[in-house]
This record gives sequence, C-alpha cells and structure tokens, in this order.
Amino acid sequence: MIYPERFSNLPAYAFPRLRGLLDPHPAGGPVVNMTIGEPKHPFPDWVKTVLAENIDGFGVYPPNDGSPELLDAISGWIKRRYGVEFDAQTGAMALNGTREGLYNVAMALLPEQKRGKRPVVLIPNPFYQVYMIAAISIGAEPVFVPATRQGGYLPDYGALPAEVLDRTVAAYICSPGNPQGAVADAGYWQDLLALAEKHDFRIFSDECYSEIYRGDTAPMGVLTAAEAAGSDPERIVLFQSLSKRSNLPGLRAGFIAAGPESTAHIRRLRSYAGAPMPLPLQRVAERAWADEAHVTQNRRLYAEKYVAADQVMQGVPGYQGPEGGFFLWLPVEDSEAAALKLWTQAGIRVLPGTYLGQDTNGENPGKAYIRVAMVAPKDEMVEALTRLRDCLYN
Ligand SMILES: Cc1ncc(COP(=O)(O)O)c(C=O)c1O
Repeated sequence: MIYPERFSNLPAYAFPRLRGLLDPHPAGGPVVNMTIGEPKHPFPDWVKTVLAENIDGFGVYPPNDGSPELLDAISGWIKRRYGVEFDAQTGAMALNGTREGLYNVAMALLPEQKRGKRPVVLIPNPFYQVYMIAAISIGAEPVFVPATRQGGYLPDYGALPAEVLDRTVAAYICSPGNPQGAVADAGYWQDLLALAEKHDFRIFSDECYSEIYRGDTAPMGVLTAAEAAGSDPERIVLFQSLSKRSNLPGLRAGFIAAGPESTAHIRRLRSYAGAPMPLPLQRVAERAWADEAHVTQNRRLYAEKYVAADQVMQGVPGYQGPEGGFFLWLPVEDSEAAALKLWTQAGIRVLPGTYLGQDTNGENPGKAYIRVAMVAPKDEMVEALTRLRDCLYN
C-alpha cells in the first residue's frame, strides 16, 4: 500500500508515546494519572434532563450549522462574555468539540499558495497537536515559534523574518495556553492583530480554557481585542468549547465564531465532509451556553486548586503557577527522565513536555518541563503533588 508522504515523519501521538515510555515499568507507588486534560469536576445535573427531553432528536439528521436556538444561545454568550455584538446565525457554527474545528477550519479557509509561494502556518511551541497536523494536511509549512518563560510563555510572532510573515496565512494562538497556562493581555492582542493586518494573515484563536482562570478578571478574548482594534472580522476565528467550561468533554460540543464570509466557507466544507452535532446534544449545548452558574462554581473549584498547588510547590526553583487553564508546567532537567522517575518511584503519570513541542533550531522548548493536569479532586491532587514534589525536587 502507498501512504501519504506528508504524514510519513509523524511521531506517535503524545499518549501512545507515553505508554511506550512508562508501561514497560511497574508503578512505584499508588497510581495517579495527571496526564490528560480531561475535566473531572461534575457536569450540571440538568444535562440528563435536557438530554432525556430531547432524545427523539436522535431520529433525525441534525442541522449542519447548528440549530437556530443553539446559535442564539451562542450569540448571547458571546455578548455577555466578550462584550461585543455578534450574530451567530451568520457568524458561528456548531462543532463536535473544538479539535475538529481547529483542523477543518484550516482546510476551509487557507489558500494553497500565498504570493506564489508555499504558505506558512504559525504555531506556538509547545502546542496542542492538532495545529500541526492541520498545517501539514493542507500542504502549508508549519513554523513553530517558541513560547518560553522569557517571552511570558506566549509566542513572539513579530520577531519572525518578514519573508516568513509575508507567506503566513494563519497563526494559531491559545490563551489561556495549553500547556503553560499563560494569558494574552490587551497589549499582546493589539500587537498580534496589527501584525496580522500588516502581513495579511488570519488569527485562529483557541480559547477553550478561557473560563478557567485566577482571580476575578476573565482573560481577554480575540473578539474583544479585534473590536477594540477595528480589525477585519474575516481575519479572526474564535474556537470555543464546553469540554473544560462545563466539564463536558464527552459531549463533544464547541463552536467557531468568525466573519460571515469565512463562516459560509466553513459551513460549506462541513456540509460536504463534516458530521453535524447530534440534535439532542445541540439542545444540551444550547442550555449550557445560556447558564453561567455552573461555570462560576467550576472556576471556584479550580481557584482552590491554584492556591493548593502554589502551597505545595512553593520553594520549588522556577515554579510558576498558571494564570489560567488547569495544567502545571513544571521545570525539570529532562522531561522524559522526570516522567519515568515519577512513574517508577511514585506511581504518578505526567506528560513529558518534549511530547508537546517540536525542535526549533535544534531545541525543543518542552524538553525541560513536565505537564501536570490538576483534574483530580483537590485532596487527591494535593497528595499526588506532594509526592511529586518530594520525588523530583527534594
Ligand atoms: C488547547 C486545546 N485546544 C483544544 C482542545 C480540544 O478540546 P475539545 O475538542 O474537547 O473542545 C484541547 C483539549 O484538550 C486543548 O487542550
């Protein structure tokens, strides 16, 4: 059989890679899994009722773009959360989680060439892996831009050579970031929007962690920043999700919000090739976007975990708690060696940062970090973090 050349050099995905590293060895203590970003707080009770009330919807093909009611709920949420007027009836589309959207939007919107040359897609490094596969799938050159401690864990796209920026068709950005938990502030957004304007590229803003943050000020999102800057709405795609916000990773519910022209392109591609979100699940999503009480409660649980993690990790050299999201990004000498040590000596599974990054100029910016998901119940998390600290840093 012949297989596509463009995927021939792909390493195994992070989780099978981790299993290959750890599973040959027995656990050295009570097993705790802190690898995957799968929320464990309860989802709201009414999910069951709404699903039951709408169960007949499994008997029909669902609307491709999202039901009018779901799109209305999304308009309302965008207005409340981002403070902008937005018509989701023409500017949004329901997704089966953001991951498929992060992939399919590249297919739907990005051109084969720019100025007669191979296009570039900018990707923060380390990064959520679908950004890379989207770029490769459309024949673009993925350019990985380190997001290191010196740069506040956000990529400095403006420092790239003009030759690269002029070929750029899109830049992915994730705020709050996975894995580092950094939040883009107004200045960062302003610079990025100006750069995108100057070099004529799109911004793909992955904000799936936007509702999990420290303190009382919600992270600024791309729609708010774009309105303040007067940016072309067609330049921007927002990706949102209920997976983290509402503890519903298995619902597979997200949306894109973009300019009407871009949205029409995305809807058209998905009407050919996509799987629309089942109607009963759209009804649950509609209810979830309209309700903030459970989100506030969820954020409170994470706020307690931020404080608890800071207490356990205080004194660990280089420790910095996240501004948002639910990962700790902990400095180590070598990420695979640290993950193996934690497993064999303490029974704790964490993800080596190396698996989330790519070599740029011979260096993988994830190599000296491990990613630790704070998803377990607080007491369990504190106990595991204490063992982690004692194993790695004492
Ligand atoms: C940065 C980031 N983006 C997107 C996703 C995908 O989320 P979902 O497809 O569940 O909406 C995840 C999931 O872990 C993520 O960490």
